Amino acid sequence: SQRKVLVAGGAGYIGSHTAKLLHSNDIEPIVFDNLVTGHRSSVRWGPFVHGDILDTSGLTRTLMQYKPDAVVHFAASAYVGESVEDPAKYYRNNVIGTVSLLDACRQAKIDKIIFSSSCATYGTPQALPITETTAQQPINPYGRTKLIAEQVLRDYATAYDLKYVALRYFNACGADPDGELGEWHEPETHLIPRALLAASAAISHLGIFGDDYDTEDGTCVRDYIHVTDLARAHVLALEHLINGGPNLAVNLGTGRGLSIGEILKAIARVTGRQVPVDINPRRAGDPPALYADPALARETLGFSPEYSDIDTIIRTAAPFFGLESRA
Ligand code: UFG
Repeated sequence: SQRKVLVAGGAGYIGSHTAKLLHSNDIEPIVFDNLVTGHRSSVRWGPFVHGDILDTSGLTRTLMQYKPDAVVHFAASAYVGESVEDPAKYYRNNVIGTVSLLDACRQAKIDKIIFSSSCATYGTPQALPITETTAQQPINPYGRTKLIAEQVLRDYATAYDLKYVALRYFNACGADPDGELGEWHEPETHLIPRALLAASAAISHLGIFGDDYDTEDGTCVRDYIHVTDLARAHVLALEHLINGGPNLAVNLGTGRGLSIGEILKAIARVTGRQVPVDINPRRAGDPPALYADPALARETLGFSPEYSDIDTIIRTAAPFFGLESRA
């Protein structure tokens, strides 16, 4: 019979792109989402269940009803700044929420989990590129909640024979190449959407958080990876677990770091629009440079990015901001 996967947080940005890709790989995505930050209109490739992962018995009932082969767990709060202001929300949603989800899986006898972790678990690394053995020393509550959730997964795996893949995303960006889904956060805090809003004059300018870092042009360097590539890594992780592969924690990045200056140049090149900018003070908790060593994901999952060159990222994202791309 057809494979099924429960996608917790499947109405959100990365979750909805993954639901679409699961469907196109003949796997039915059952989206479970509380719609606090997700969008009902982004759920189009399978059934939708309105629920909260903190409701263990409601989630258990849903799992018993659909009997999925695995759970992909995206449901979390994900603003670094907000996690400093309101850590209670982050420990509740991201740590207690994960424990609740894993308990529901145990009760429903679902033993395969794919978990959304983050490069934020590494904090400011001692050396680059970041490998999976780089010390995980998060510098904000968001990163700590993701690290604790990884540790919970590992302990549950040992004790209860759970199988998991933890995927440590670097900077997710871009949009569905078919134009059916985009990046849609409220408020929007991420660099590329804010730069495109400024390029389209929907906001007056992009505030750059510091241009005096010890990097080539003084702005922060990040590893920007296309959301459709991230989505495909989930399909590969699922195949890995179904084929009996071992538990894994892997980085999902390109191995290439880009400065904010390089992103703005790409926007000008692809859309023909200059991004008006202001130089603001540094944002608290921003490491100067982060980029992944992508080798382990390639070796264990056969993953390599296809859409993550910066021009493709900008070209796929631009239409959601009313911008056209040059041929
Ligand atoms: N930036 C600006 N101006 C803006 C927005 C961002 O200059 O208006 C800068 C940031 O200071 C940073 C870079 O652009 O240097 C990227 O910022 P984002 O907010 O887009 O992404 P972050 O790297 O801060 O955050 C991402 C994920 C988080 C994750 C974090 C790990 O969104 O979930 O990586 O470092 F925790």
